[in-house]
Amino acid sequence: MYRSIFRPGLFAEKVVIVTGGGSGIGRCTAHELAALGATVALVGRTPEKLAAVAAEIADSGGLAQAYPCNIREEEAVQSLIAQIVSAHGRIDALVNNAGGQFPALLKDISRKGWEAVVQTNLTGGFLMARECLNQSMQKRGGAIVNMVADMWGGMPGMGHSGAARAGMINFTETAAFEWARYGVRVNAVAPGYVASSGLDAYPPQMREIILQAGKQVPLQRMATESEISAAIVFLLSEAASFVTGAVLRVDGGRPNVRLGFPLESERSTPAFSGFHLARQPKVLAEREPE
Ligand code: ADE
Repeated sequence: MYRSIFRPGLFAEKVVIVTGGGSGIGRCTAHELAALGATVALVGRTPEKLAAVAAEIADSGGLAQAYPCNIREEEAVQSLIAQIVSAHGRIDALVNNAGGQFPALLKDISRKGWEAVVQTNLTGGFLMARECLNQSMQKRGGAIVNMVADMWGGMPGMGHSGAARAGMINFTETAAFEWARYGVRVNAVAPGYVASSGLDAYPPQMREIILQAGKQVPLQRMATESEISAAIVFLLSEAASFVTGAVLRVDGGRPNVRLGFPLESERSTPAFSGFHLARQPKVLAEREPE
């Protein structure tokens, strides 16, 4: 069972959608919400990945179902939400976590590549949120968390993703205002470097290089997936019942680094993970003995 920092039963009777639920931060958030009593609808493009996470959650005694869907397709999103509402009666919360990009300089990005990234990271999230609002939350209230990124001041090598995610923040702010009248809170979480299961696919040498990026962070390490899911779950929960239109940075202070002020490293903060070792991303499990 996932060991959440939050009160047991906090999400009992709640129906929560997590997009990008087949891996990484989405998988971790789904585990945490299920451990807190939620019924989790796992959305993503790859049915096998969703089924594997649903099975992990069922093994731990939680409730989760796989709903394969491409969030870029408007009609598919409309029928996905109709299907979830008819199966569970309502949607209490949405974690708009599905995302994807490829590293490239702006000068080399084709129109097709740009539009694909904007559709996944901005338009897809808008469609999911709009349908949750129109098909359930408008009547019963709810909470939405949009995942963005540490793209403050630009995102060299990922300009398409940075532009889409900056757009997602503005969408969050507008939706927070327009949907407050329905009792719907809309917030964003901006993670920095995360040692996520997505890194497991990289060759070990490459993984080590990425892990070294943690040295550039004031708190002297990368985040665990659980440190991101805790922020998401906080914003979805009653603990944040007066928070809307906010962006919660979970990045160890990375954007606060300034030229001319060297990072002093006396100690790093202890990392928190709710996963048992066996379910930890390999990238962290391998480092556990240190
Ligand atoms: N995860 C990444 N891209 C996605 C998409 N287009 N639809 C659903 N989940 C995704």
